[in-house]
Amino acid sequence: MASLKFPESFAWGASTAAYQIEGGWDADGKGLNLWDTFTHQGGDRVFKNQTGDVACGSYTLWEEDLKCIKQLGLTHYRFSLSWSRLLPDGTTGFINQKGVDYYNKLINELLAINVTPLVTLYHFDLPQALEDQGGWYSGKTIEVFEQYAKFCYSTFGDRVKMWITINEPHIMAKLGYEKGIIAPGNGEPGFGGYRSAHNMIKAHAKAWHAYNNFFKEKQKGAVSIALDSDWAEPLDPNSMDDKEACERYLKFRLNWFAEPIYIDGDYPAVMKSEISRKSKEEGLMTSRLSEFTDEEKKMVKGTADFFCLNYYTTRKIKPLHIKQGGPSFDSDMGAEQIKDPEWPEAGVEWLAVVPWGLRKLLAYIKDTFGDPDIYITENGFAQSEPPVLQDTHRWGYFQETLAEVWKAITQDGVKVKGYFAWSLLDNFEWISGFSVRFGLFHVDHNQPNLPRTPYFSAIEYAKIVKGNELI
Ligand code: BGC
Repeated sequence: MASLKFPESFAWGASTAAYQIEGGWDADGKGLNLWDTFTHQGGDRVFKNQTGDVACGSYTLWEEDLKCIKQLGLTHYRFSLSWSRLLPDGTTGFINQKGVDYYNKLINELLAINVTPLVTLYHFDLPQALEDQGGWYSGKTIEVFEQYAKFCYSTFGDRVKMWITINEPHIMAKLGYEKGIIAPGNGEPGFGGYRSAHNMIKAHAKAWHAYNNFFKEKQKGAVSIALDSDWAEPLDPNSMDDKEACERYLKFRLNWFAEPIYIDGDYPAVMKSEISRKSKEEGLMTSRLSEFTDEEKKMVKGTADFFCLNYYTTRKIKPLHIKQGGPSFDSDMGAEQIKDPEWPEAGVEWLAVVPWGLRKLLAYIKDTFGDPDIYITENGFAQSEPPVLQDTHRWGYFQETLAEVWKAITQDGVKVKGYFAWSLLDNFEWISGFSVRFGLFHVDHNQPNLPRTPYFSAIEYAKIVKGNELI
């Protein structure tokens, strides 16, 4: 393969999230978050009832992480703030100075080695105290999130210029509040996902406005939200039903959030019509999907300064007709996802490796959401146990994917500004615990000092970052 040059000043990064790496779950005054609660409850909802109590120990071993970042030569590092480490009960009523000190050290040291921080305010770990008061079902969480965002901008914004408000609201809404598979674990099919997402979108918008109104002029940074999406293709490209189901799939996934934020402050028309129709059939007086008021639409529209995409996989789609049981998101969407058996799998059952899907998705975002600057804020491939350090097959997937990103930029004119590998380290992979390893660096969780060792992928990624080209 000829060398593929990336644009000058392309951002090369890796991503992590607080709960997945930090550990120190009760250290120095940190408050509980809902993943602390969820994992401590046991009940086999997480692989071997593992927890993030220790994880990669980054709360104390952050200098080891910096060594990994340096070894990769990254230009950017994406990490998240643990909300309840900074504000133990979620509110600015009490600020945990030790938490502030921790992130100050990390940010300062990143800048000292010329690495730009991309900071996520909230990556799945809602403070438990807020959950106890209704969590994302409560309008109060919107106000408290806005205060938290302002606190972070005023505390770290002199140095942090790139912000993500919320990571993957779709995953939280669907797996946390619709299906109850992940924390907080109480699913309300057909209701919970929509209700929580509605408030998350409003919270994001408020946090964006807070920056825009009070901080942007002085701090000159930018704020976005990280949206996850698969690419989708009709199972039979000649079937009208499959094509429509495929469109619905994308609307219920990426567009659920991206249309309100990037287009018009409102949900996709097909979501509104389908959910309202089904709600009527169920004898409900109003749709299970809440409406935004006109004022809210104005507030939500245009609240992202760039587009953050987390991409992992692709699906083939055909219609799904669920006749039994109560209401559910899947029944509303009416789309069945099929994993082509031809596609290789990377370490975990859901992760079919489809690099070309990313190129198509990038083109779709360019065409649908006003040709924004796009950062791929997560993409990666896992290994299951036992992982091998010589992960050549995995590096092959990264190479193929980066080649598709390169094509998206040079052939399709998509404004991709950066690529962040998920993840810097093998970490706590939510309900899969430590059994699924996404790291560029292996972490030995059986040794007390949690040593980090580069995989072959890390060594190769460093070469690409250095040369700004895929060789
Ligand atoms: C999340 C990460 C997660 C990754 C791999 C994304 O949904 O943002 O926290 O580890 O996917 O599953």
